[in-house]
Amino acid sequence: MQDRPINILAIESSCDETSAAVIRDGKVLSNHIATQQVHERFGGVVPELASRVHMQNIVPVVDAAIKDAGITKADLTAVAFTQSPGLIGSLLVGTCFAKATAQALGIPLIAVHHMQAHVLAHFIDTKPEFPFLCLTVSGGHTQIVLCRDYLDMEVLGETIDDAAGEAFDKVAKMLGLPYPGGPLVDRLAKEGDPHKFRFPVSEMKDYEFSFSGIKTSVLYFLQKERKNDPDFVEKNLKDICASVQYTIIKVLMTKLVKAAKQLGIKQVGIAGGVSANSGLRQALKDAGEQHGWTVYIPKFEYCTDNAAMIGITGYHKYLKGEFADMTVSPSARATWA
Ligand code: KG4
Ligand code: ZN
Repeated sequence: MQDRPINILAIESSCDETSAAVIRDGKVLSNHIATQQVHERFGGVVPELASRVHMQNIVPVVDAAIKDAGITKADLTAVAFTQSPGLIGSLLVGTCFAKATAQALGIPLIAVHHMQAHVLAHFIDTKPEFPFLCLTVSGGHTQIVLCRDYLDMEVLGETIDDAAGEAFDKVAKMLGLPYPGGPLVDRLAKEGDPHKFRFPVSEMKDYEFSFSGIKTSVLYFLQKERKNDPDFVEKNLKDICASVQYTIIKVLMTKLVKAAKQLGIKQVGIAGGVSANSGLRQALKDAGEQHGWTVYIPKFEYCTDNAAMIGITGYHKYLKGEFADMTVSPSARATWA
């Protein structure tokens, strides 16, 4: 008898994207993402609104993922969901939906850590060798992660305050750009001079990061310049974006190079929302050439939040028999590696 395929339904709802995917034997059959526009006018994610929109989106998004995969619910082998970290109300929607689906279908439930999933997004279409070093940069996290195996990871260092994505978004807000500002700063930076303005960075020990200093120095810089010229931002927008982006990337790459050298690792990748940044993607390629690394950069759709990465993580947990029981609850913060 031929083995039945392992079809995993994956659900991601940790922040402001409702996403569902179907993964068959580690390959993505479908990946649907509903982005919530409602937060734009507030300049950031409003948690209560996010959970309400997840409730509206989750049924159609899951249905679309299953239909698009060409299967029915009866073909599902297990349900994986983001259990932590994230906005608690948002996580609750995905968790409850996953638990109810698993119970109704009589199939196993798999709890996934969102940050581990960002790293495993690299294993959707490619297969880095272990040990693999990953810089995970998102709106809530900045981490250097050593991966010894699919589920054997260690966070070597992380930010002690703001995440890199947060720094992009907060600077964008100061510049009057809408949320999320990261992609807009990226676009404007392409036409700006990265060396026009200098912003001091905090020296951090080991593999730790700090981005609140950059944010504050940009704030004071803008206040000072606006006093002299109220149109300063308008006149220098592209150069400010390019200079801020250059500074953030330099901080990130300096630590990544240091970690790769100290550990002697040559398989290196970036993951998370900020890995969509064109400057960071180029900086990784350049560092790869300079240091003889094989570099890994996820496809755009697997950089920002998506359920395919939850599904690939769920698949490896399924193979190891790492299941959750029905008492599992979501957690806004959770230690992981
Ligand atoms: O991983 P993600 O989708 O959600 C979290 O888990 O936080 O990351 C979202 C973050 C936001 O801060 C967004 O501004 C940033 O990723 N981002 C970017 C770019 N695309 C998304 N930052 C800089 N350049 C980009 N192109
Ligand atoms: Zn994320």
